[in-house]
Amino acid sequence: MQVEIHPTPESGSARAAEQIRGRLVEGFRLGVATGSTPLAVYAQLRDAHRRGELTLAGATAWALDEYVGLPRDHPQAYRNVLHAELVADDATGLSDARLHAPDGAHHDPRAAAREYEQAIGTGVDLQILGLGANGHIGFNEPIGSLRSQTHVGRLTPRTRQDNSRFFDDDIDQVPRECITQGLATIMRAHEIVLLAWGEHKAEAVAQMVEGPISARWPATVLQQHPRVWVYLDTASARDLTLTELYHHASA
Ligand code: GLP
Repeated sequence: MQVEIHPTPESGSARAAEQIRGRLVEGFRLGVATGSTPLAVYAQLRDAHRRGELTLAGATAWALDEYVGLPRDHPQAYRNVLHAELVADDATGLSDARLHAPDGAHHDPRAAAREYEQAIGTGVDLQILGLGANGHIGFNEPIGSLRSQTHVGRLTPRTRQDNSRFFDDDIDQVPRECITQGLATIMRAHEIVLLAWGEHKAEAVAQMVEGPISARWPATVLQQHPRVWVYLDTASARDLTLTELYHHASA
């Protein structure tokens, strides 16, 4: 893992966006996460597109996960969130047809998960990841298989509570199930860029970077991937101990 500790989420996001921009070529397959963590990166990509410095027109984007059971037009369905961030109003040049997500409204979610796994095939070129406070990536919650493929999963009460802020602070509105790329699916990405901001991620970050590989902390599986970049702010890096091994970026 390459770990960069930034003074603020803004400077970490700028670096991550710069790295992604440097990779984009025709036919690029970009894995995209939801949640609040990558929003500043998406804003940077939109700004660069507005300035004519970047286009995702020749790329495809692949969602990491999706809620099961929300109506297709629900604003919090992850495909709609990603559409608003990357497609609407010619945000980045990405077209709707090139934005892929598991079909969480499918009458048979398990079949939808299998179809998505097949569609991803050999993996995306670069996967953007956030990190759950309990160490999840995508919706791969603790104690799931470290070799899982895209599957239907149950959300933990902690994750439903964390995500209730997107559902009028009402946990009962948060779906109980999801379709998520599995850990093996994520590991097929050629490169991975993981972002984590804030003190509430500090324990999960310390486990992911310095802890033993364990299904208790699913993100620890990334220790076995050869090309992972971790962008942190000082708050999320709080519990790391091997400080001399990390790159400390200045403002
Ligand atoms: C959510 C998503 C993840 C995301 C994580 C962190 O539940 N399924 O893909 O990375 O939890 O969310 P946030 O970025 O809002 O802290």
